[in-house]
Amino acid sequence: MMLILGLESSCDETAAALITGDRQILAHRLAGQEAAHRPFGGVVPEIAARAHVEALMPLIEGALSDAGVSLGAVDAIAATAGPGLIGGVMVGLVTGKALAHAAGKPLIAVNHLEGHALSPRLTDPALAFPFLLLLVSGGHCQLLLVEGVGAYRRLATTIDDAAGEAFDKTAKLLGLGFPGGPAVEQAALAGNPYAVPLPRPLKGSAEPHFSFAGLKSAVSRAVDTGQWSAEDIAASFQQAVVDCLLDRTARALDRAGDATALVVAGGVAANQAVRAALEGLATQYGLRFVAPPLWLCTDNAAMIGWAGAERFAAGLTDPLDIAARPRWPL
Ligand code: KG4
Ligand code: ZN
Repeated sequence: MMLILGLESSCDETAAALITGDRQILAHRLAGQEAAHRPFGGVVPEIAARAHVEALMPLIEGALSDAGVSLGAVDAIAATAGPGLIGGVMVGLVTGKALAHAAGKPLIAVNHLEGHALSPRLTDPALAFPFLLLLVSGGHCQLLLVEGVGAYRRLATTIDDAAGEAFDKTAKLLGLGFPGGPAVEQAALAGNPYAVPLPRPLKGSAEPHFSFAGLKSAVSRAVDTGQWSAEDIAASFQQAVVDCLLDRTARALDRAGDATALVVAGGVAANQAVRAALEGLATQYGLRFVAPPLWLCTDNAAMIGWAGAERFAAGLTDPLDIAARPRWPL
């Protein structure tokens, strides 16, 4: 059975996983860096890169030992090659190259977004191409028609901030700490989603693009008035994001006639209100709804290993001199 070592280091999670071609996750080790970045209220690239250097090799050794295999048993090494914070991406990619060279194994340079895009197929073997993917993370907010491995048609993107970024900034404005998404979701549970009047940027516009900068400014003004509780602002903000995601995704579905399923992936896909709303939309369109388990939504190495497995099965490997890319659209 094909065995892939997956490495992830593009933001603030360091991770290593061993994935088989028939979807078994033999090992997955992950080290978060929240504590190191919390005092700064966001991810500090230099601190992240240093933390990846310290964490990565022990995680790889731990994953190999969990799976009870040696590096020699691996068929290929898949590492995130971008997009992301370049220092961190280089740590993972250079480590992947070194291991590939030492063990005489092929290297697969994985686009982190492709990792998110194919992750739902790791846990759902029935998910067939093409499917409409809403990719919502801290750095991205896109609608993609996933037609096959390496075949991604981008139908929409954000014209300013990503949805996760808006969650993180709202959390900061409300003093809820870092990382913001889960904190806002938690606070929203105790609030009224219709208490604070907030805009739904681009809702109803013809192109299915996203915009969250205006929403963020409106949250900032709402906080400044001192008129509402943090819970009501959190709930109203989350409802505004959900309304935008739904409206924009519906517009894309109108153009994705042959899609077999509506799929959501990326860190914001861990949000229960987002998941529930999209599930309702899929039902309305008579489509299957697929969302990976929560741990597979936020950054991890299993999705990089799986994207590596899909690429390896398609005969796609990369030369050892391939460059790390801070920007790399799918
Ligand atoms: O995919 P991811 O782990 O990293 C990137 O590639 O960006 O996504 C992280 C983003 C952060 O902005 C985080 O606040 C958001 O996903 N996030 C959430 C939730 N969990 C993580 N946003 C809303 N609700 C959540 N439960
Ligand atoms: Zn990500």
